[in-house]
This record gives sequence, structure tokens and C-alpha cells, in this order.
Amino acid sequence: MEVVILPGSKQIGSLAADAIEALLRRKADAVLGLATGSSPLPVYDELARRHEQAGLDFSRAHGFALDEYVGLEPGHPQSYREVIRREFTDRVNIDPENVHSPDGSAADIEAACEAYEEAIKAAGGVDLQLLGVGTDGHIGFNEPGSSLVSRTRIKSLIEQTRRDNARFFNSIHDVPHHVLTQGLGTIMDARHVILIATGAQKAQAVRDFIEGPVAAICAASVLQMHPHATVLVDEAAASSLRLADYYRHTYDNKPGWQGL
Ligand code: F6R
Repeated sequence: MEVVILPGSKQIGSLAADAIEALLRRKADAVLGLATGSSPLPVYDELARRHEQAGLDFSRAHGFALDEYVGLEPGHPQSYREVIRREFTDRVNIDPENVHSPDGSAADIEAACEAYEEAIKAAGGVDLQLLGVGTDGHIGFNEPGSSLVSRTRIKSLIEQTRRDNARFFNSIHDVPHHVLTQGLGTIMDARHVILIATGAQKAQAVRDFIEGPVAAICAASVLQMHPHATVLVDEAAASSLRLADYYRHTYDNKPGWQGL
């Protein structure tokens, strides 16, 4: 796992966008794994800027959302399908037909989860997965206790996550209790994962998943077993890391050819 400590969101957005741009230049039909929430927004802003100003081309790319709320009516502004559309895919030239999300309004939830796994497989697997991390260490909506080999399925949100996400709704009562999420096994199949964490409220989760034991109580810790995981954090999110100086030294002296 590579940990990169950067001054702020702008630098994080730019470095993650560099990795996505490099991927698209060597593989125009790359499959991008798309997170929602606040963490990836600087990346989407930077990609939209590069599309607009430098013609970065997404016309052959594919996108798969990480997760979706269960029970929001189609078109609900906070459904993750809508959020991804608004924050990213409508701002670049990706074909809407190539952008997928788990169907949280399906009558048969299990079949919808299976179909999602199949669709990812049929697209050739995720090349680069963007992730945020919850204050309880979740990735996707794999809450504490999630199987480390889980696949796309329904999960119940922990109260803390509903409280954290209430800022996107009128009140906590409007935040659904259930979600569909790619499993930890699904996320681990991505060829490269880039996790972004910013702000002091993430410091404990960041320390737990990077430097604590691999354990289902902190779902993101499974990324310690990933062959190509990159963690981009700002100073506040990095403030509890024991080996912060080592991560800084390693990145500052990294061979230029290596990229992320
Ligand atoms: C969103 C997702 C979640 C968020 C996490 C952090 O698709 O899967 O794991 O990444 O809850 O959310 P923010 O970035 O809003 O702090």
C-alpha cells in the first residue's frame, strides 16, 4: 500500500486525475470504479476541467458506481446514480449507456446484485477504483463486520454512517437504512484502487486501516492485501499516522518513472 500525504484537496484531485488520465491514454476503453460522497469530488472537478480544456477523452470509457441506496425513487437527487451523473459523467463525454450502478429499486434485490457482478465481469473488470473511507472504516458501504471476500449485496447502514450522510438529505430520517454495495471481494478485484481521505474526522479510520490489523471491524484494512493500493490523504487525515515521516520520505524519493 502506498500512502501519499499531500497539502490539500486540490493536490489530491490533481494526482488522482493524473493516474486516470494516464490510464485512459494507454487504454481508451478503461473501466473506472466511481465513488460518491465528498472525497472524490476534487478528482471529478479536475477530470471535467481536463476534458473541457485539454480534450481528455472518455468516449470509450466505462464507469461502475460502488454503491446505491435502497428504496429511493428513481431520479431521487441523492440516489448515487444521480449524484455520479451530476458530479461527473454529465461533465465529460462518457457514453451514458456505459455508466452503471447497482439497482437499488429492483424488485429482486439478489438478482440485481448478481447482475451487477456479471456486468462488471463482462466489461473486463475494474481498472481503477476510486474510494473514500467512512469514519468507521467502511469502503463502499461495507460496514464493520463485512466479510473480507464479500460480493455485491444488500447491507444495513450503521447509525454513524446515516448521521454522516444526513448532510445530503433534509434530515437523518430521510437517509435510507439499506444500501447495495460492491463487496470487499469485488473491490479487491480492481486492478488499482485509489482511496482518498481528507479532514481530521477521518484521522482515526485512516490510522486504523493503514497501520492496524487486517480485520472485518475495519473494512478498509483489507486493502493492505491489495497488490496495487494507493492512499491519498491530506495533512489532517494523516495526523494520527505513526509512520507519516516514512511515507513522506518514500514519496519524495520515489523514482519518477513509477507513477502512482
Ligand atoms: C460512497 C461510498 C462511501 C464513501 C464514504 C466517505 O460511494 O462508497 O464509502 O466513500 O462514506 O464519504 P465522504 O467522502 O462523503 O466522506
